[in-house]
Amino acid sequence: MVSFKDLGLVNTREMFAKAIDGGYAIPAFNFNNMEQLQAIIKASAETKSPVILQVSKGARNYANQTLLRYMAEGAVEYAKELGWENPQIVLHLDHGDSYELCKSCVDFGFSSVMIDASSLPFEENIALTKKVVEYAHQFDVTVEAELGVLAGVEDEVQSEVSHYTKPEEVIEFATRTGCDSLAISIGTSHGAYKFKPEQCTRDPKTGKLVPPPLAFDVLDAIMEKLPGFPIVLHGSSSVPQEYVDMINKYGGKLPDAVGIPEEQLRKAAKSAVCKINIDSDSRLAFTAAVRKVFAEKPEEFDPRKYCGPARDEMERLYKHKIIEVLGSDGKA
Ligand code: G3H
Ligand code: 13P
Ligand code: ZN
Repeated sequence: MVSFKDLGLVNTREMFAKAIDGGYAIPAFNFNNMEQLQAIIKASAETKSPVILQVSKGARNYANQTLLRYMAEGAVEYAKELGWENPQIVLHLDHGDSYELCKSCVDFGFSSVMIDASSLPFEENIALTKKVVEYAHQFDVTVEAELGVLAGVEDEVQSEVSHYTKPEEVIEFATRTGCDSLAISIGTSHGAYKFKPEQCTRDPKTGKLVPPPLAFDVLDAIMEKLPGFPIVLHGSSSVPQEYVDMINKYGGKLPDAVGIPEEQLRKAAKSAVCKINIDSDSRLAFTAAVRKVFAEKPEEFDPRKYCGPARDEMERLYKHKIIEVLGSDGKA
């Protein structure tokens, strides 16, 4: 058993309370490799932003769970080395799909876990979430749960359509499970294709797709039922057009990729939404930068020469999210 406290990590409790009070949101960035982690920590340290490092089941399989955990421990020391005296860093399991996986992460030094039982019937979601909460809370590890279904791929579950969170269910769910935060469905989804072209309109000037707005009425109704309760938004990448264009220009193929407009996320961040999940945008930044080097310098074969620019691009992206979208700079 490793306690997250011995690793210099923090849980989400105080972080979320301050974010709700202050009208900003904490960035939750997924990482799978060293370059992503370096970019996240550098961006967070230099802007003094609290940050959530997210590890998915896929990341555990890709990079090895032991290695990822030690990398997160190293990240705390790296942050201090960068001059961040009191780093506010959470190590979080993203989309945990079983009690066993959540328990293993709690035992392994994670400070926060998500149990995503959103594809199960209401009562089963409650039962599994409650079981994880009872275990995690013994060690002061905070738990995120999910109610409602996001469109697209969520773990192994694929849903053609999203099912918005039902505001009339949230009080019972939060009370009976004891979860610390709640991921909701209000129209976001995972990946770089968040809306089908037929769901969007086209900007007559640019020809680009303009997505429909998020269901802020559902968010408002949830906040009314659970005043001050921490709300989480998954699938919140904006899919920046500059990266999509760069990828397509340098041999990639991402037709009609579309994300959540930044102004919608800015609005959400000012509400009880206190954790905003971003993964795809970092993948796009990485890929765009690597493709550019490959296209412009075909003679390069030293990975540092293309992973380095990719890391710089991700750092720019993370700083932009922190300062211009979530407003979490200077909060840690
Ligand atoms: O919610 C999904 C995250 O973007 C993680 O994706 O399962 O491919 O690592 P992944
Ligand atoms: P994006 O695919 O929009 O980056 O969402 C990431 C996410 O929700 C991770 O849990
Ligand atoms: Zn997610």
